[in-house]
Amino acid sequence: MATTCVLGAQWGDEGKARVVDLLADTADVVVRYQGGSNAGHTVVFEGETYRLHLVPSGILRRHVTCVVAHGVVVDCATLLGEVEELRTRGVTVGDNLVISDRAHVVMPWHRRLDLLREEQAGARAHGTTGRGIGPCYADKVSYRGIRVGDLYDPDWFAERLRMNIEEKNRILVDAYGEEPLQFAAIRDEYRDYAERIAPFVGDAVTLLHDAIDDGREILFEGAQGVLLDVDLGSYPYVTGSNSCALGVPSGTGIPPRALDRVIGVAKAYMTRVGAGPFPTEDEGEDGRRLRDEGNEYGTTTGRPRRCGWFDAVGMRYSVRSNGIDEIVIVKLDVLRGFERLKVCVAYDTPQGRIDTVPATASALSRAVPVYEERPGFEEDVTGARRPEDLPAAARDFLAYLEQQCGAPISQVSVGPSREQIVRLRGDT
Ligand code: IMP
Repeated sequence: MATTCVLGAQWGDEGKARVVDLLADTADVVVRYQGGSNAGHTVVFEGETYRLHLVPSGILRRHVTCVVAHGVVVDCATLLGEVEELRTRGVTVGDNLVISDRAHVVMPWHRRLDLLREEQAGARAHGTTGRGIGPCYADKVSYRGIRVGDLYDPDWFAERLRMNIEEKNRILVDAYGEEPLQFAAIRDEYRDYAERIAPFVGDAVTLLHDAIDDGREILFEGAQGVLLDVDLGSYPYVTGSNSCALGVPSGTGIPPRALDRVIGVAKAYMTRVGAGPFPTEDEGEDGRRLRDEGNEYGTTTGRPRRCGWFDAVGMRYSVRSNGIDEIVIVKLDVLRGFERLKVCVAYDTPQGRIDTVPATASALSRAVPVYEERPGFEEDVTGARRPEDLPAAARDFLAYLEQQCGAPISQVSVGPSREQIVRLRGDT
């Protein structure tokens, strides 16, 4: 297939980078299309662990061109820090990395406003990663944003900066009693960033159009997950971008029809970080065990993740709204030893039983999961490589998930290393 999108089908942290990594062997281009440094993608390559926030996971392969497209909000300091770390570890970063000149830049006020809003909200905090993501996207759609290309037109940049500082100082100083932003200091800081990121900046839209025309293999790497999508997710407990497949054309400039295949990655259970409804959350022994066995702590923030059972209602919604062609289930090994495996197949609501995701976070928070249970498995599955290596109960569980989710499961991961994969079908 020429173009493939790998996205998270749940609330993020599904292990997308690993699937991207497997596919990157044959890819020519790997593209981040949305989100920013709120993402934390862990890739193990040749025995080394890399944690990437902005640079696409394909960077570890010399033949791959990595693109940070305009749907991404770029934090220059994070980007440069990542480039430096990769170089220190011997990874080539040069003309194999292209940052879109249309991408919006995360400015100092975005982080400050993100953190101040969270602080003010107290117990009602959103639980953002504090990376300035929401405020940066808010400026983008309210015509205040500063884009990468703007950094190279000093007069225009100064004008945009001045306008923003006047506006943001009214909020920071008058509403929050904070120190004002200083024009000259920020101008100089971003001049320096502009110089240092210049070798990477380019016209990513044309690059991708040409790559499509040339029939090159392009991999779109989603960040966060469908249930955190700004439109499809549990609004307002979402992230600021379209983390669903819709984000690919809007965030890169390729035509919607150019996307050939969508792979949805999901854990064999569910996790969430930050606030917001989570119908199948288990705050008791099962949830604690999933967290411990699955090592469910955030890559970006280190926060313990909320854990619970697989929600097939949410997954069906992801499959249908993204046209997911195949599902990759990860962390099946974490379910070992549970006597029964629960799958949520519907929600009970004050209005009756439903099998779709309600629009509002308040309705979703009142939804009571209706579970079906399947027998668990005692066997260690971490050595399984073929479907027949899996215990019958694990195979039954996967077949049940497939039937409930409405898309085929192409592969299952049974441990953290690259080879701990069972291919059920296809060549993913
Ligand atoms: P923001 O994207 O930092 O604004 O955070 C908004 C919501 O998305 C919060 O609930 C975060 O915990 C969540 N979130 C953002 N990025 C990720 C991610 O990469 N994985 C999981 N959750 C995320």
